[in-house]
Amino acid sequence: SLVIKRQGRNGRSMCKGLILGALLTSSMILIYCLSNPHIHLSVPDVPVPYSCAHRPSQPQPKPSNTSHKSTSQSCPPKVDIMFMKTHKTASSTLLNILFRFGEKHRLKFAFPDGRNDFFYPSLFQRSQVKDYRPGMCFNIVCNHMRFNAPEVAKLLPTDTSYITILRDPAQLFESSFHYFGRLVPFTWKIPGEDKITEFLLNPQSYFDPEGFNSFYLKNLLFFDFGQDNTLEINDPRVDEGIKFISEHFHLVMLVEYFEESLILLKEALCWEMDDLLFFKLNARKGSTVSKLSPELRAKALEWNAIDWKLYQHFNRTFWNKVDTYGPERMAKDVAELRRRNQEMASICIEGGRAVEASSIHETDMQPWQPIGEKSILGYNLKKNVDKAHQKLCRKMLMPEIQYLTELGVNLWITKVWGHVRDIINW
Ligand SMILES: *[C@@H]1O[C@H](CO)[C@@H](O)[C@H](O)[C@H]1NC(C)=O
Ligand SMILES: *[C@@H]1O[C@H](CO)[C@@H](O)[C@H](O)[C@H]1NC(C)=O
Repeated sequence: SLVIKRQGRNGRSMCKGLILGALLTSSMILIYCLSNPHIHLSVPDVPVPYSCAHRPSQPQPKPSNTSHKSTSQSCPPKVDIMFMKTHKTASSTLLNILFRFGEKHRLKFAFPDGRNDFFYPSLFQRSQVKDYRPGMCFNIVCNHMRFNAPEVAKLLPTDTSYITILRDPAQLFESSFHYFGRLVPFTWKIPGEDKITEFLLNPQSYFDPEGFNSFYLKNLLFFDFGQDNTLEINDPRVDEGIKFISEHFHLVMLVEYFEESLILLKEALCWEMDDLLFFKLNARKGSTVSKLSPELRAKALEWNAIDWKLYQHFNRTFWNKVDTYGPERMAKDVAELRRRNQEMASICIEGGRAVEASSIHETDMQPWQPIGEKSILGYNLKKNVDKAHQKLCRKMLMPEIQYLTELGVNLWITKVWGHVRDIINW
């Protein structure tokens, strides 16, 4: 009878899974159809030679011969930025930094229209930019897209700085499996509670390269850069793809060394330490510790072999940059950044740390949740923040969707999708 009972339970959860699946697929297809531009207008090529940045007349820094000034930079901050927002890579935190930098310098963002990405996973087209007209000038593009170099080049000034961020592919896979797994129909037939283990033990028997949303579960980084994520590792197109990325991006940051990455960003773009202040946004409960055993980690890396090669390549270039910067100078700057972030946390955050969704008082501070759960942490703004910090605290803590809305992006498709998701969250 135990066997029958278990089968009964399996049957019920399978039934629930099927209904959930059918509902999900139909609403996803509906939203996809609604949101895709049906006509691809042929947009004339009008190059964008110069930056359109509003440059306030800054007081010229006085030439100084005092030695303590020698570390301060005299170059103007770079304001034309392409940030390739990869998935599950702390990129929401970086977006918050870019939003604040953009507001500070009154820059023009190229935002998507109606949703918070550029029709991902289809390749980026500049016609997807909100209010785009040929010849128009933008400073920053930073929402999720599938990278498409020629289209991006026609959107931004020629001396734009291209930056991106990578993450250890085993951890990225784990995170992506958790966050997007339910949106990938072939995962629904994976048996048992521990689907990720089951999948990694025998990926070939579950993975369907043609399956809807399958790219979320194999070499997602390589896919985000517009490449083919299903290539064999010894295919020459893998190395060509990595070369392509290294030729296009001026700085490739690493999630595992986030503060170091920001210091390199400051160096590359001539920013100030103030521009780098951040709180970790969009973190998943318990996500700091990987649940993959060493054996499963090896399997995850083998399964995502292209991303692993990509990561190792840019890990090397990253540490070369740190060497050039000076390891001691780096350590000193990272310590300074951490100290200032901690100081901000004590000024802004109630309790000084992130809390679960149910403990967040303001809806403005509620982060976007993955389908079927509430695992993403958020913050409460302290009640009596002094006047000088109120605005900054609020912006630093604001989740991406709310900040985008504040910057004038209409997110109706994202919101409809959010309601569908809330209804399905049973
Ligand atoms: C350098 O600074 C000192 C004072 O700190 C001043 O007396 C001197 O004239 C300055 N030299 C130049 C070249 O500006
Ligand atoms: C990245 O590079 C550093 C420094 O060379 C090395 O210690 C580390 O093991 C590398 N990480 C990976 C994942 O290859």
